[in-house]
Amino acid sequence: MKIPVIFDCDPGHDDALALVMACASEKLDIKAVTVCAGNAALEKTLVNAKRILRLLGQSAPLAAGAARPLLREPVYAPDIHGKSGLDGAPLPPPDYPQERAGAAELQRRIISQSPEPVTIIATGPLTNIAILFSAFPEVKQNIARISFMGGSAGAGNWTAAAEFNFYADPEAADIVLSSGLPLLMSGLNVTEKAFITRDEIDAIRAFGGRTPVLIAALLDFYLGVYMKRGFPGAALHDPCAVASLTNPELFSAHPYHVTVETRGKYTAGMSLVDIRRRSDAKPNVTVNMDVDRKGFIKLLMDAAGTY
Ligand code: BDR
Ligand code: CA
Repeated sequence: MKIPVIFDCDPGHDDALALVMACASEKLDIKAVTVCAGNAALEKTLVNAKRILRLLGQSAPLAAGAARPLLREPVYAPDIHGKSGLDGAPLPPPDYPQERAGAAELQRRIISQSPEPVTIIATGPLTNIAILFSAFPEVKQNIARISFMGGSAGAGNWTAAAEFNFYADPEAADIVLSSGLPLLMSGLNVTEKAFITRDEIDAIRAFGGRTPVLIAALLDFYLGVYMKRGFPGAALHDPCAVASLTNPELFSAHPYHVTVETRGKYTAGMSLVDIRRRSDAKPNVTVNMDVDRKGFIKLLMDAAGTY
């Protein structure tokens, strides 16, 4: 039986790739897509989500969520994702229906009506999920788990200490980390190992057909950014939140106690993954620590080949 999923995102190149993977997976049933501000302002991430869902021929309900973090001023990432938040490819127009309801209301509806506990995949700042838990705490009873991209069991990328999604809304990350729900974390320590190379992108393009060619064009843009920064390829952060759910055999994971700094002058948004051998802190998160990169890329390629 397929896992019912709510996909919360801020597309974003790697969010788009995560949607490619999730929508292609025979193991997942995408019940709804919800969008928050993050890589770009909400009006842009929403348009980007519509373009991608249209490209992928989806029909899941889509709703707009938070335009800003819970407490802080918004931060965006145009240096990584371009002005639109998803530069680099002539994507289809954003002709995709949008629910009248906002993200939290749509999420509540899906979760409360689902006969099976729903899994949330979250690939942006965790604002929408924190709002859902604050507005409708009862939904937690019917959530199986949350697989999110955020934080790091190591260094940051937005600041020396903090990863972008956690930095953008540390208070929301705190609410999710302390939710008591089963959590699966793909942080930078693993997502930067899940990179795609020039040759692998060219192999996707060589599939031919409109969708693989557009996926490759998005990856070309994204790769350029990462190459300039000295990476061996483009880090596919968000697809790890999908792949570690559908194909856990590609990842090695460990339960750890994870918290997020909400106050530090230099460390706001930093995740603290307690990897001490003799720590008595109770694990609250299953943390992906390593990935079989080749197997992960094969999964992505197979997904791209289905369109
Ligand atoms: C995360 O930040 C965003 O730029 C990406 O989409 C990803 O979710 C990586 O730090
Ligand atoms: Ca993202």
